Amino acid sequence: MRRLNPVAPLIALAAAATLFVLGGCAPEKAQPVKTVQIPDGEVDPAVWGKAYPTEYEMWKKTEEPEPPGKSKYKRGFDADHVTYDKLSEFPYMALLFNGWGFGIAYNEPRGHANMVRDQLEIDSARLKSGGVCLTCKTPYAPKLEKEMGIDYFKTPFKDVLAKIPEKHKTLGVACIDCHDNKDMSLRISRGFTLGEALKKLGVDQAKLSRQEMRSLVCAQCHVTYNIPKDADKKSIGVYFPWQGSKMGNISVENIIKQIRSDASVGEWTQTVTGFKLGFIRHPEYELFSNNSVHWKAGAACTDCHMPYTRVGAFKVSDHRVMSPLKNDMKACIQCHTEKPEWLRDQVIAIQDRTVSLMLRSGYATATVAKLFEKAHAAQAQGKQIDKALYDRAKDLYEEAFYRCVFIGAENSVGFHNPTEAMRVLGDATAFATKAEALLRQALAKAGVDVPLTVNLELNKYLDQRGEKKLTFDPKVEIKDPYGVQVRF
Ligand code: HEC
Ligand code: HEC
Ligand code: HEC
Ligand code: HEC
Repeated sequence: MRRLNPVAPLIALAAAATLFVLGGCAPEKAQPVKTVQIPDGEVDPAVWGKAYPTEYEMWKKTEEPEPPGKSKYKRGFDADHVTYDKLSEFPYMALLFNGWGFGIAYNEPRGHANMVRDQLEIDSARLKSGGVCLTCKTPYAPKLEKEMGIDYFKTPFKDVLAKIPEKHKTLGVACIDCHDNKDMSLRISRGFTLGEALKKLGVDQAKLSRQEMRSLVCAQCHVTYNIPKDADKKSIGVYFPWQGSKMGNISVENIIKQIRSDASVGEWTQTVTGFKLGFIRHPEYELFSNNSVHWKAGAACTDCHMPYTRVGAFKVSDHRVMSPLKNDMKACIQCHTEKPEWLRDQVIAIQDRTVSLMLRSGYATATVAKLFEKAHAAQAQGKQIDKALYDRAKDLYEEAFYRCVFIGAENSVGFHNPTEAMRVLGDATAFATKAEALLRQALAKAGVDVPLTVNLELNKYLDQRGEKKLTFDPKVEIKDPYGVQVRF
């Protein structure tokens, strides 16, 4: 039986009774609130750091490389200095995302301090949406949005970046993004994104508990979003597709429904199929908060990614936000009494199962995309493709596609909500398999012979990508952990 730290059941109970005031495991001794005044609107973390040097030093550490070899799947930019290109890790993504920036350069995340620098290094195709791309990167985003209005979204990325003071051009998430300067309480700085989305969930911001805030400060960025475009393909805003959902149950079904019903968020055209599609980005908050065991247990993002750490006489929150695996499971043993190795094994077991299903559903969906390519080629030659079969296949294909993207973009490789991740990927595989059957039937009816194994021509999508002519790196490819064949 699993052993939990004696306080954990209390946490769960208190959370259930919504009496919960303290985080995962409360500090023995709270850090005293300093009397140093931080001016209103002060962005510079160094100024905040004068009052809170411990948190400031930890926060600065997010720019340093992390220890390699501790995490199996989140190996981004560790001290081994390998760039973990997601398209090489999961080659089916290169095929599915071909047609825009994500199909050119798509890297695993790294420490917070690098967020704007990484944006400047990535292929410029990824920045085509304009200033809107800075929304989750610079602490100046709320100010720029207020001053520029709609122009903030549509103005070219570099022009909006130029409005940020020189000294802070590459400054990533800063104290002001998460804290109130008066009393250091947590705050939502991005009213224009998360604030609006919470309204859709019917949440009264004034009533949010401290524990809810310990996740919501992260949900300002670790969520999926849509960028609506005008007739000239210019970005005119950004919103979270949370319509119809509830706090604690933002479902993948509702997200997909919203994306598919709003034509203005069809941001790109998939090369293989020619379909105009939307996209799903890093839905950490959505997956985690959807009835996961840890969400139900009252845990917050902060409990696992900013564990309490002893510094001198005080316990402080570790502001070097990173993977708990790279921190030797320190976060987990705040609540769990199992050994770090046991906990790590559990994480890897969950992730192995997730990866196996990701590959299966990803290749199944990529196969359908190739069959659409064949169907379109047949049509171009004047062959008749049965419309009813085609339309149903297209519908199922899009459902499969968005589910693959949802779990593929979520950064925990299933850990944040293992059973939900499996359910979503199971559905993706079922939808893709059915779509394949319908298209095979349609192609056969049109007299087109389809081989048993469809050639995905992956090298066409993996090599010579973008300005830097990126190529497939077989060393980082993630294979099925059980050695099962994933392409049929
Ligand atoms: C202002 C937006 C923003 C906020 C707020 C934010 N993040 Fe991030 N986070 C990012 C971006 C962007 C990246 C990827 C940076 C890169 O790859 O350059 C990232 C990366 C990460 C990583 C990967 C770090 C690594 O070392 O690889 C973790 C873990 C993380 N965030 C957790 C959190 C948690 C927990 C919170 C809340 C306490 C949070 N983030 C708040 C934007 C944000
Ligand atoms: C119960 C603990 C737990 C909670 C709660 C939790 N995470 Fe995680 N998170 C993990 C683990 C474990 C991983 C996988 C890390 C790995 O494989 O190295 C992870 C991975 C991540 C990553 C990728 C890290 C990297 O190094 O690339 C991000 C980003 C992230 N989580 C953000 C969040 C956000 C945002 C929340 C809240 C919405 C959250 N997490 C809640 C445990 C947790
Ligand atoms: C991504 C969000 C985020 C950023 C950026 C951030 N903090 Fe925090 N900080 C938190 C969270 C979450 C807590 C825990 C608060 C709680 O439990 O009420 C915290 C707690 C604190 C505390 C209370 C004592 C402690 O350590 O628990 C201080 C002081 C603090 N932060 C200072 C800073 C300073 C200074 C900066 C900038 C250098 C900063 N923080 C940047 C999220 C952030
Ligand atoms: C805030 C307290 C807390 C933290 C922090 C925490 N856990 Fe848990 N964890 C729980 C509770 C409570 C449960 C559910 C009770 C149970 O299943 O015994 C749970 C359940 C689990 C389970 C079983 C989940 C399932 O779906 O069956 C695993 C595995 C696990 N935790 C691993 C971890 C790991 C790894 C970390 C660190 C990254 C971590 N936990 C951090 C409190 C916590």
